[in-house]
Amino acid sequence: MKFFLDTANIDHISEAHWMGIIDGVTTNPSLMAKEGVKGEDNIIAHYLKICEIVDGDVSAEVISTDYQGMISEGEKLAALHNQIVVKIPVTENGIRAIRYLTGKGIRTNCTLIFNPGQALLAAKAGATYVSPFIGRLDDIGENGMDLVEKLVHIFDVYGFNTEIIAASVRNTNHLLKCMETGVDVVTCPLNVITGLLNHPLTDTGLEKFLSDHRKLND
Ligand code: G3P
Repeated sequence: MKFFLDTANIDHISEAHWMGIIDGVTTNPSLMAKEGVKGEDNIIAHYLKICEIVDGDVSAEVISTDYQGMISEGEKLAALHNQIVVKIPVTENGIRAIRYLTGKGIRTNCTLIFNPGQALLAAKAGATYVSPFIGRLDDIGENGMDLVEKLVHIFDVYGFNTEIIAASVRNTNHLLKCMETGVDVVTCPLNVITGLLNHPLTDTGLEKFLSDHRKLND
């Protein structure tokens, strides 16, 4: 299972990279805005900085909603760096844009997936990745993990090459549950990943080892 960091925060990306725990990065316009990145030149420079830090795929999202706008933005983003994957929302124009960009050899991540039908259409259009949003389904009383489980099953049955990225992963419990589904990738903030390290028995065990050592050596 691959871990992508779902952030545009350079400090978090660097920290995760040096820990050796991430395989890529996903961003979206909200995450870029959260870091105060605005203006085309700054946005481009920010994507390039992320690509310099990490070795894997970096998803950069289009802002256009019309077909021509999506494909021309997608081509520009893909030309920035060979690690860039063009992130496209799952609309009718988005599906057409994925088909076009796939034909040009450009990799895509189809985002804002909330049901299996949307994911299936994106996969048929040739998307490299589909991103079902777990937390946002939980927010409205549905079960985001059920969607991930269904997609893993459906993609397996039909043999799609498209990889599934579990997104909108809000807590470590989501992450642990994702591990059991066999999903290809999980993207989440750094604290959700480092939360995997937390266990009270680890803390008390370490305390005991160190106090036993001190008893003999002080
Ligand atoms: O990868 C999608 C993610 O950034 C959305 O997360 O927490 O805004 O639902 P959230």
